[in-house]
Amino acid sequence: MALRLSLVAVLLLLSAASTTTTTAAPAQAKSDCTDKCGDLTVPYPFGMEKGCYLREEFYIYCDRTTPLPTAYLMKGNVIVTDISLDDGELRILNMVAEDCYEAQGNLPSNSPYWLTLPLPYTISDSKNKFYAVGCDTVAYFQAFRGEDKFSGSGCISICNSLDSVDNNSCSGAGCCQTNIPRGLKNTTVVLISVANHTHIWEFNPCSYAFIAEQGKFNFSVAGLKKQDNSYRLPAILSWAIGKDTDSCDEAQKNKEDFACKANSMCVNGSVGYLCRCLPGYEGNPYHPDGCQGGL
Ligand SMILES: *[C@@H]1O[C@H](CO)[C@@H](O)[C@H](O)[C@H]1NC(C)=O
Ligand SMILES: *[C@@H]1O[C@H](CO)[C@@H](O)[C@H](O)[C@H]1NC(C)=O
Ligand SMILES: *[C@@H]1O[C@H](CO)[C@@H](O)[C@H](O)[C@H]1NC(C)=O
Ligand SMILES: *[C@@H]1O[C@H](CO)[C@@H](O)[C@H](O)[C@H]1NC(C)=O
Ligand SMILES: *[C@@H]1O[C@H](CO)[C@@H](O)[C@H](O)[C@H]1NC(C)=O
Repeated sequence: MALRLSLVAVLLLLSAASTTTTTAAPAQAKSDCTDKCGDLTVPYPFGMEKGCYLREEFYIYCDRTTPLPTAYLMKGNVIVTDISLDDGELRILNMVAEDCYEAQGNLPSNSPYWLTLPLPYTISDSKNKFYAVGCDTVAYFQAFRGEDKFSGSGCISICNSLDSVDNNSCSGAGCCQTNIPRGLKNTTVVLISVANHTHIWEFNPCSYAFIAEQGKFNFSVAGLKKQDNSYRLPAILSWAIGKDTDSCDEAQKNKEDFACKANSMCVNGSVGYLCRCLPGYEGNPYHPDGCQGGL
C-alpha cells in the first residue's frame, strides 16, 4: 500500500516536472526587458530599453500613446509589425511615394520616399516587388548596394482612359511592377509624369510607387483615385547580426563579438550572417543564455 502510494507520488512529480519543462517558453527578450509592444513580440537582439538591444540598429521605439502601441525601427518612421529570428527578416509598414496634380496640371504635392536604413538592413529581393500605380506614371528606385550606387530600375504605366486599365491585374496598364535586385539599402523612390496628368485627371490625379511584399498589394481601378496620404503597405527587410557584411567564416575568426551563443550555429544570411539553434535545441540563439533543451 505504502509502496503503491509513493509510486503514485513519483508519477505525479514526474508529470509535474515534464509539464514545467515543456511549457517553459524559451527566453526571448533579455531578462528584465519588455518583450511586447502591442501585438509585436520583440526578441533579443532587438529591444526597447537601454541594455536590452545588442546595438543601436536593433533599438525598437514603442509608441504607447496610440490606442494600439506602435513599434518603430530605431527612431525612424518605419513601423515594425513582425520580427523573425529564424529567417532574419522584419515585416514593416512602408510609406508610399506620391505625385499629385491639380486639374490644370499644377503640382500641389510631391513626396518622394526615402527608406534610409543603415546596415544590417537590406530590402528582401525574394519577398518584395516594386509597384507603380497611375496612368501618366514613370516610376523608378535608386539605392546603394554595399558602397556602390545602384542607379536605378523601375517601370512605366501610361493609359488614356479607364477602359484601357486592367482591373485587378498589375500588368502595365494602370499598374506596373518589377523585381528588386539583391542587397539594396538606402532606397529612394522617384516619380515622374509625362503630361502632368492633364488629360486623365478626372480618373487619375496622382501617381503612386512603393516597394511592397509580394501578394500583399492587389491592384484595382479604385487605386487610381486619390489615396489618403498615410497609406502604408507591408514590405520585408532582411537583417543580419554582424556589424558588417561578414559571412560565417569571417565572423567566426573575430571571436570576441561573435553573436551565436550556446548550442547554436552560424548560417550565412542574404547579407552577413545569422544564428540558429542546433538540432534538438530551441529558443533564441542570440540570447546570452543561448539555446535550451537537448535530449
Ligand atoms: C545609408 O543611410 C544611413 C542612415 O541615414 C547612413 O548612415 C549611411 O551612411 C547611408 N549609406 C550610404 C551608402 O549612403
Ligand atoms: C474592379 O474589381 C473590383 C473587385 O476587385 C470590383 O469591385 C470593381 O467594381 C471593379 N471595377 C471596375 C471598374 O470594373
Ligand atoms: C508640368 O508642370 C510643371 C511644373 O508645374 C511645368 O513646368 C511643366 O511645363 C508642365 N508640363 C506639362 C506638359 O504640362
Ligand atoms: C489579394 O488577392 C488574393 C487572391 O484573390 C487574396 O488571396 C489576397 O487576400 C488579396 N490580398 C489583399 C491584401 O487584399
Ligand atoms: C558562407 O559564405 C562564405 C562566403 O560567401 C562561404 O565561403 C562559406 O562557405 C559560407 N558558409 C556556410 C556555412 O554556408
